[in-house]
Amino acid sequence: MSVIRFVSLSFQARLTLLAAAAVAMAIIGPGLVIYYLIESFLIGGLDANLQALASRYHVVGVSPNATYVQVDLGPVSPLSPSGYVQFVDAQGQVLHLADVRQRDDFLDLSTTSLDVRVADGQASGYFRDAYVSNAHDHTRTHVRVFTSSAGDGLAIQVAEPREDIDSTLGYLRVVLTFIAACGVVLALILGRLLAQVALAPIQRLRGAVDHVTQTGDMTQRVPVGGKDELSRLASHFNRMLAALDRSLSSQRQLVADASHELRTPLASVRTNVEVLKRSPDLPHQERERMLDDVLAQVQQLSQLVQDLIDLARGDQVPMVFEEVRLDWVAAAAIERAARNWPAVRFQSDLHETVVFGDAHRLERAISNLLDNAGKWSPAGETVEVRVMDHELTVRDHGPGIAPEDLPHVFDRFWRAPAARGLPGSGLGLAIVRQVVEAHGATVTAELPPDGGTLMRLRFVPVVARALATPRTRAS
Ligand SMILES: Nc1ncnc2c1ncn2[C@@H]1O[C@H](COP(=O)(O)OP(=O)(O)OP(=O)(O)O)[C@@H](O)[C@H]1O
Ligand SMILES: [Mg+2]
Repeated sequence: MSVIRFVSLSFQARLTLLAAAAVAMAIIGPGLVIYYLIESFLIGGLDANLQALASRYHVVGVSPNATYVQVDLGPVSPLSPSGYVQFVDAQGQVLHLADVRQRDDFLDLSTTSLDVRVADGQASGYFRDAYVSNAHDHTRTHVRVFTSSAGDGLAIQVAEPREDIDSTLGYLRVVLTFIAACGVVLALILGRLLAQVALAPIQRLRGAVDHVTQTGDMTQRVPVGGKDELSRLASHFNRMLAALDRSLSSQRQLVADASHELRTPLASVRTNVEVLKRSPDLPHQERERMLDDVLAQVQQLSQLVQDLIDLARGDQVPMVFEEVRLDWVAAAAIERAARNWPAVRFQSDLHETVVFGDAHRLERAISNLLDNAGKWSPAGETVEVRVMDHELTVRDHGPGIAPEDLPHVFDRFWRAPAARGLPGSGLGLAIVRQVVEAHGATVTAELPPDGGTLMRLRFVPVVARALATPRTRAS
C-alpha cells in the first residue's frame, strides 16, 4: 500500500493495520529465525555425515580402461542403501566402484567444472545440492553432494538423499505459515478492538465539537476521566469552551449595558429636539439653552461611543510594545488635564522610569485617572502626580470613594450615586483596568487617611518583564 493511501485511511484503520503489522513482525521474524536455525542444523548433520563417509574410501587402484576404481573400504558399507558414490577424474570422466559391494544400480551424479578442479587438486572439497534422475521410474531425487579430493587425480563424490530433511522443513514451513496467518488475523481483530477503545475519547470529543458547532451552546462539557493525553486534551478543550463562553457573555453584557446607557441620553436629545420642533416661537434664550443642551448631550454620546469602541476592541488592537518613559507620558497627560481643568492645580513629581508598553494606551489610562481627579477636586485644590520606581500615583483631595464602593469603581458603567449628576459614563476606570492588565501591571484605588482618593499603577520593572515574556516584546 502506498504511503498516500495509508495516510488517507481513517485513524482507526491505520491503528488497526499498524497493530497487526507489529504482531505479524513479532511472529514472522522469530519464525524465520527458527526455520533457518533448524534447516542449518539438519543440513549440518547431513554434511558432517557425508564428510565422514568420503574419508572412509581409500582408492587402491583404477581399472586399466579408467572405468572402475578399486577401493579399500572398512568392514561395513558406510553408505545408506539410498546413498550414492562415484569418482571423477581430472578429465571429467565418471568412474564407479569396482568393489565387491558395488551395487549395479549406480547412477551418474552430474559433474561440474568445479568437481574437475577438485580432482585436479586446484580446489578444495565442497557441498552442493543436486538432483539425480532414476532411469527406472523416472523420478528425481533431491540429494546433498559432497565432493573432495581422493588423491591420484581423482575426486570422490558422495551423496545422500535429503528428502527427509526436505519434508521436515516443508512441514515446518506449513506450521510456521499457519501460526503467522493466525497471528495476523488475531492481531487485526485485537488491533481493531484496541483502536476502538483508544479512540472512544476522541469520538466523545468530536461529539462535543459537533454539538457546539450545530447549537452554538458553549455550556457543553466533555467528560474527563483519567490523566492520559486524551483526557488532558479533553480538559484543554473544556477550558477553551469555558473561555469562549466567558468572552461571549462578557460581549453580550457589554452590548446590553451599552444599549442601556445610550438609551437615556438619546431619549433626552430626542425630547429636546421634539420640543424645539413643536414650539417654533420659543423665546430665543430658551431656544439657545436647549440647543446647548442637545450639543452637550451629543458630545457626551460621542465620547461614550468612543469609550465603548476602545473597550470592545480591547486586546484585539495590536499594541506597540516598546520601552517607554513613563514620566514623559505622565507629563504629556498632565499638560492636557491642566488645560481641561483650569481650576485645579496639577503638581507633578516625575522621576525617570522606563516601562515596557504602548505609550499611546498608557497616556489614555493616565488621562482617565487625571480626568477623574480633576472632576472630583474642589476648585483651587491640588492634584499630586508622582512617577517613581515603576509606579505612578494620582492623588486628589476630593470627596474620596465610599469604602463599600471601592470594589466596583473599575466595573464598566459603574458610577457612585453622587457621580450621577456629573458628566461621564462610568467607562473611564474600566478602560484604565483593561490597559493596565494588558501591560501586566496592576491598578488600585486607595483611600488616604486624610481624605481624597489615591490611584496607584504598579508596573513590572522593564528588564524582568522583557526577560520573562520575550514574545510580548516581539509583538
Ligand atoms: N478621584 C475620584 N474621586 C471620587 N470618586 C471617584 C474618583 N474616581 C472615580 N470615582 C468614582 O468611580 C466612578 C467610576 O469612575 P469612571 O472614571 O469609571 O467613570 P466616570 O468618571 O464617572 O465617567 P467617565 O470616566 O466614563 O467619563 C465615578 O463615577 C466615581 O463615582
Ligand atoms: Mg472617569
